[in-house]
Amino acid sequence: MALFNKKSNEKNLQIKIPEHLGIIMDGNGRWAQKRMLPRSAGHKAGAQTFRKITRYCSNIGVKYLTVYAFSTENWKRPGDEVSALMNLFKSYLEEALADFKDDSIVVRFIGDKSQFSKDLQKLMIENEESSKDRDGMVLNIAMNYGSRDEIVRAVKNISSNVKSGELNIDDITEETISSYLYTSGQPDPDLIIRPSGEYRISNFLLWQCAYSEFVIMNKLWPDFTTDDLDEALEIFSKRNRRFGGV
Ligand code: IPE
Ligand code: IPE
Ligand code: MG
Repeated sequence: MALFNKKSNEKNLQIKIPEHLGIIMDGNGRWAQKRMLPRSAGHKAGAQTFRKITRYCSNIGVKYLTVYAFSTENWKRPGDEVSALMNLFKSYLEEALADFKDDSIVVRFIGDKSQFSKDLQKLMIENEESSKDRDGMVLNIAMNYGSRDEIVRAVKNISSNVKSGELNIDDITEETISSYLYTSGQPDPDLIIRPSGEYRISNFLLWQCAYSEFVIMNKLWPDFTTDDLDEALEIFSKRNRRFGGV
């Protein structure tokens, strides 16, 4: 884990920069409701925060950033909210992600792409293809992502490889399972931040978060600033991670 000589409010606290940071971008709807705006306005504001925080993470030396943008359960929302989100994703993938080019960010989508429109799928693949040779931070955007769905998919692929003889049952280890997940080859998240004050994981990175630190913050995602991220990093830097040891 990188140690970063960042200014901290507390003297002598060396800020640790997580190698892999996860963020559950939550609270857009409440942000809009508080302002008597449609929930879609909250998602639009949240997208701006996403842009700002992503660039900041890349600047401070985070190597992997995973943001939860749309869960497998979010399809349950009213049709107009889901379509507003799809339109937002589309305009993002068309323009805003090109922004990340200057920061050499590698863009990846984790989740089941097949349920999105053909247009969106094409844009997702184009973004992945055009950024794959960059050498900066890896940005995993979790879209139609659910960790249980990810595990079911892994079990099916493992079973089919056992059936075909490519994989031997006795060779299945924890590493094998990790390698069948969307985050294959990446370190597990060191820190997961959830704004909006909810104390739950909501089907995010269940396998990968076995030893992640959690920081819950009371800010709603559209209000979340780089100072809030710094505060979360300070809290994280004071944690004593034991991984079951002493
Ligand atoms: C997170 O904000 C964005 C998505 C889940 C797509 P919410 O829309 O969940 O906002 P709240 O939790 O209702 O305030
Ligand atoms: C989790 O937030 C998913 C995203 C932020 C994309 P939700 O708002 O869907 O989670 P719950 O319903 O509060 O658990
Ligand atoms: Mg929510």
